[in-house]
Amino acid sequence: MKTTISHIKADIGSLPGHSSVYEPVVQEVGKFIKEHGNGILTDHFISHVGDDIQITMIHNRGVDNSEIHELAWDAFIAGTAVAKKVGLYGAGQDLLKDSFSGNIKGMGPGVAEMEINARKSEPFIIYMMDKTEPGAFNFPIFKMFADPYNTPGLVIDPNMHDGFKFEIWDIIEGKKIYLDTPDHMYDIMGMIGSKSRYVIKRVFTKKNHEKLPDENVSVITTDKLSFIAGEYVGKDDPAGIVRIQSGLPASGESLEAFSHPYLVSGWMRGSFNGPLMPVGMKNANMTRFDGPPRVVALGFVLKDGKLTGPMDMFDDPAFDGARKTAVDVVDYLRRMGPFEPHRLPEDEMEYTSLPKVLERLKSQFQHIDMEPAKKKLKVSTKDFD
Ligand code: F6R
Ligand code: MG
Ligand code: MG
Repeated sequence: MKTTISHIKADIGSLPGHSSVYEPVVQEVGKFIKEHGNGILTDHFISHVGDDIQITMIHNRGVDNSEIHELAWDAFIAGTAVAKKVGLYGAGQDLLKDSFSGNIKGMGPGVAEMEINARKSEPFIIYMMDKTEPGAFNFPIFKMFADPYNTPGLVIDPNMHDGFKFEIWDIIEGKKIYLDTPDHMYDIMGMIGSKSRYVIKRVFTKKNHEKLPDENVSVITTDKLSFIAGEYVGKDDPAGIVRIQSGLPASGESLEAFSHPYLVSGWMRGSFNGPLMPVGMKNANMTRFDGPPRVVALGFVLKDGKLTGPMDMFDDPAFDGARKTAVDVVDYLRRMGPFEPHRLPEDEMEYTSLPKVLERLKSQFQHIDMEPAKKKLKVSTKDFD
């Protein structure tokens, strides 16, 4: 029988302001899942990074299952009640619809799910990021599954040597494309470098993988809150699942992709670029300038529907160097104040509150005799999964 891993996350209120979750709210979400998930789930784990509560669920009902989605939605509603009671900031913030309507996608929470043929030992890592966007996964997922300088298994392991299949979404136009590595590496890089538009949604093994043919081995949340709500309502802080070992990236090859604190967008007011800092759970609270953007990694094994773990993978001095570089980059960037490229380029600011401020100046603009140049892209909220 196939096993499904469903990871659903949402910001339903923070302490004191977009910094961290509040433990009683996390507990309420966990209590709800435990009570109401009985008979539906075979196991679950509740965690958090920054102000986002993360629910990992194991079951046999496949992806896009309405009962599983409703369970997570109702758990977030239950947690929101506690958040409202104590006056948490932004209580219920990511729950953008009034009532559940069959599928949690497009309702605010981020969703990453995969149905798998679980191996004898099924090790995987859940990566959870705060103060950034889904495209922040493009760089490390590409490195893990396609860059031999990061992942020597691509050269050494016969099962990885033929590469992987990438599913890439154009989240502006609502289209997806499947491309193989290594053959189409340069085409893939041509797209995923534009991380606010093209996002890696899934990675699959190829058909000739001896141990796991044609399997989904990674999936990332791609939900854009501003596209759902039509305006900035908080950042679409993403999460991703990566299966590891035995013909897939080793645990350490997967983690290695985060050893360089590359720049991501979504920091302060969803409007700034900053370095992604890998941290252990004890450092998963957002402080300086509401950040900097962080990633935590929880490692599990799965057997007969039951989880063992997690191990807090970045709670390791081996990542101190990456953290130090991240803090140095923060010091450097912060001195730029509201200037690009610390602040996001204007087209990405369209989904923030800046247009409202600039609107006030509209009547003061005077005509200049020149050809206007800019064409606007159409935003689609269509579900194209
Ligand atoms: C939210 C975030 C924060 C907020 C900022 C202002 O995910 O990243 O940086 O955007 O704290 O919040 P408001 O506008 O709610 O006062
Ligand atoms: Mg928030
Ligand atoms: Mg958040």
